[in-house]
Amino acid sequence: MKMPATILALAVAAQGFSQISIIPQPVEIRQPKIAAHFTITPATQLVLEGSGLDNSVNFFNDYLQECYHFRLKTTRAARGKNVIVLNYERLDKPVAGAYRMTVNGQGIQIAGDNETGVFYGIQTLIQLLPVPGADPNPDPRKLAIPYVSILDYPRFAYRGLHLDVGRHFMPVSFVKKYIDYIALHKMNYFQWHLTEDQGWRIEIKKYPRLTSVGAWRNGTIIGHFPGTGNDNTRDGGFYTQDEIRDVVRYAAERYITIIPEIEMPGHGSAAIAAYPYLSCFPEEPTIRYFPKKCTWSGDSTGKQVQQTWGVFSDVFCAGKETTFQFMQDVMDEVMALFPSKYIHIGGDECPKSNWKRCPLCQQRIRENGLKDEHELQRYFIQRMEKYLNSKGRSIIGWDEILEGGLAPNATVMSWRGEKGGIEAARQHHHVIMTPTTYVYFDYAQTKNEDSVVIGGYLPLDKVYNYEPLPAELSAEETGYIMGAQANVWTEYMKYPSKVEYMIFPRLSALSEVLWTPRERKDWNDFQRRMPVQFKRYELWKASYSKALLDPRSSIGKPTEQ
Ligand code: ACM
Ligand code: ZN
Repeated sequence: MKMPATILALAVAAQGFSQISIIPQPVEIRQPKIAAHFTITPATQLVLEGSGLDNSVNFFNDYLQECYHFRLKTTRAARGKNVIVLNYERLDKPVAGAYRMTVNGQGIQIAGDNETGVFYGIQTLIQLLPVPGADPNPDPRKLAIPYVSILDYPRFAYRGLHLDVGRHFMPVSFVKKYIDYIALHKMNYFQWHLTEDQGWRIEIKKYPRLTSVGAWRNGTIIGHFPGTGNDNTRDGGFYTQDEIRDVVRYAAERYITIIPEIEMPGHGSAAIAAYPYLSCFPEEPTIRYFPKKCTWSGDSTGKQVQQTWGVFSDVFCAGKETTFQFMQDVMDEVMALFPSKYIHIGGDECPKSNWKRCPLCQQRIRENGLKDEHELQRYFIQRMEKYLNSKGRSIIGWDEILEGGLAPNATVMSWRGEKGGIEAARQHHHVIMTPTTYVYFDYAQTKNEDSVVIGGYLPLDKVYNYEPLPAELSAEETGYIMGAQANVWTEYMKYPSKVEYMIFPRLSALSEVLWTPRERKDWNDFQRRMPVQFKRYELWKASYSKALLDPRSSIGKPTEQ
């Protein structure tokens, strides 16, 4: 029987030496025939040849401090060979963020084609540090780094991870940790899903009830939908504008752009609970989904923040001017907080039943010569796009924004498979691939999953083998595919530890899909590197799924029989 690569790697580590295990796999790695090491000690100096390197230095020193309990001093001019030199070098690769790294008798040299490239070189250096539990008995103040020469750059320009803080609010401290996880995987976009039926999470000064009312629900169903009852516990939270500015700065220091998502015209129950006039029917109480099966906690009259999961028909009224005034006011504050060129306006899962019976929505349809409610959705999205474009921003929307016709400059996030992305690329619109089949990290990652998850089955090898460029597109059309993103919907993730368990190790697989050249990807070699990565998760104090090591899990079976 062939030994699984994971077990083989553990055996190799046990023999007293370890192989280089960088994730995502770099473009080129060269090692000398005879193994040798440079040793980082507290006396090693970080030499900064050039400006703009503070982010890289701070990240590295904070990592050393957290995991190895010391920091390095910085200097502007190298003296001796006990040095890590950071500088710039023109590398001219198609996607920004290239770096070159050499470890030899002269110390460690990292040269980036820009600040981001140096930062990615630092991420690789972090992955060359000995890992407790994986490498033989590291002396915490003598960190052996193997001689190596690396040339590296990303495959895709958009390498994203999303987090839904609407279904379950996550504290700022965890959001920052999550951003660190993104950075450690050389990824560069964080989509912050800030508004939902179950909670509005961003302070908007002009509309204080969004957070005083909309950020809180009186209870949550217990267990898998429709649930076995209600926990009858008030739940919620929101980010103040100061906190948001702090998180945006934190991400920027890691070369990560935060794309805020403000959902419209659907998924708006929490905003409607705060400001009922946003609904087509302000006097109608909130429709409770499966009212016989889902138990409700507290007041059920009037408009309420939802306590269960699903798609709700009480959406923003597209007929009222006040809806658009509200949305533009919200966007003004959102744009002041987030410098991102892209603003995500949602656009998914908007039932049309209220619009069909709303006189104002029907009047809007007539007056604008629209065919039906799908075209009314297009009107809604295009009007918001026009507003955001006038302020120099671009919209991203879920693939439902294709229905009734795309807004002229919109980028499409293809989630219901790749179909929407293919269609949008053919229409020469930019696309970010996030298909449920490959990158929905709320799906189960083992057939033996024993915690409550939404359903589906997305094992590690399926993520690893995902190819974001659809074969049916021409070379010109694939140029519109910016990259891909994993989505993390938190209906069944109440705590940060569950979020970690759901993203690890799948995030590590995704990082390789997005970074590593297609011809360099190798599932067996990835499995060889995973045991060290598992120990890194432990070093980060992160929880993770051990499905890969579980013989009852079917992960990777086709390649190991
Ligand atoms: C989505 O999963 N509704 C975008
Ligand atoms: Zn209406």
